[in-house]
Amino acid sequence: MTETKQDVLSETPLLSVKNLRKEFGGLVAVKDVSFEVMPGEFVGLIGPNGCGKSTTFNCISGLLEKTSGTVEVFGVDVSDKRPDQIQKLGMTRTFQHTRLWKDMTVIENLLVPPRKQFSPNPFLSLFRGRSRPAEKERLSKAFAVLDQLEVPHMAHNMAGELSGGQSKLVDIGRSMMGDPQLLLLDEPVAGVAGPLAMKIFNNLRELVDTTGISVLVIEHNMDFILRQGVDRIVVMNEGDVLMVGTPDEVRSNRAVIEAYLGAAGDDGGEEE
Ligand SMILES: Nc1ncnc2c1ncn2[C@@H]1O[C@H](COP(=O)(O)OP(=O)(O)OP(=O)(O)O)[C@@H](O)[C@H]1O
Ligand SMILES: [Mg+2]
Repeated sequence: MTETKQDVLSETPLLSVKNLRKEFGGLVAVKDVSFEVMPGEFVGLIGPNGCGKSTTFNCISGLLEKTSGTVEVFGVDVSDKRPDQIQKLGMTRTFQHTRLWKDMTVIENLLVPPRKQFSPNPFLSLFRGRSRPAEKERLSKAFAVLDQLEVPHMAHNMAGELSGGQSKLVDIGRSMMGDPQLLLLDEPVAGVAGPLAMKIFNNLRELVDTTGISVLVIEHNMDFILRQGVDRIVVMNEGDVLMVGTPDEVRSNRAVIEAYLGAAGDDGGEEE
């Protein structure tokens, strides 16, 4: 029998965040955040500036030590794990501020692991133990990733000469190099012009549908995320989760309308 989307979604979560809290001194950046990402899901994490979205990512990916709560990646409690150990489980992330190696080409950037997810010695881990066939395989993987993102023509461009939007795409490409099962993207379209932003989201949707990986993407524009075909949205506000639901459920939720959509929430959802 063919596996339906519902069957897939009933499996164990790839990511499970329970009662996550993060304090910086007296500031509570994340108060009580709980949500899950299931296999094959495309999920948005949305909230206004400073509500704790990136801090949530930083706690999930092991960059910050959480104050309390639990984070499980592929069913493994990652409390004591380093970022590179969490990445090895099959989860990669990007950062809000893209930092490519500007003096390298796009393809070369794809061959270097994402920053801050390095093992303790990044350059040794890059070259050690790689046979020539393995290097060749990695190179063809890099070209395949650029194909998937529909930017193979950029392979030999210098990263320093890319536009903001193109850099974001290359950054996503770099995070796909390790064949992750779960991709966490921090504002992949911030500062990117409308048409390219939509193209990036279309590509992500297609990536989820064709490969079955899961994507959790941070976005700050509610109007935008509601139209991008994500499966579910986690709505944050001031360090808490306001609600988790489908775009339709979010659009008609009273608390969300009051906090985000104002009067536009009553009629704004119908426009194309
Ligand atoms: N390393 C840190 N030290 C102290 N305070 C921090 C640190 N990182 C974040 N904060 C504070 O925690 C709160 C949440 O920040 P965070 O970056 O998680 O928000 P965000 O939702 O990602 O916002 P934005 O939409 O602007 O990216 C903010 O008040 C921020 O100033
Ligand atoms: Mg942020």
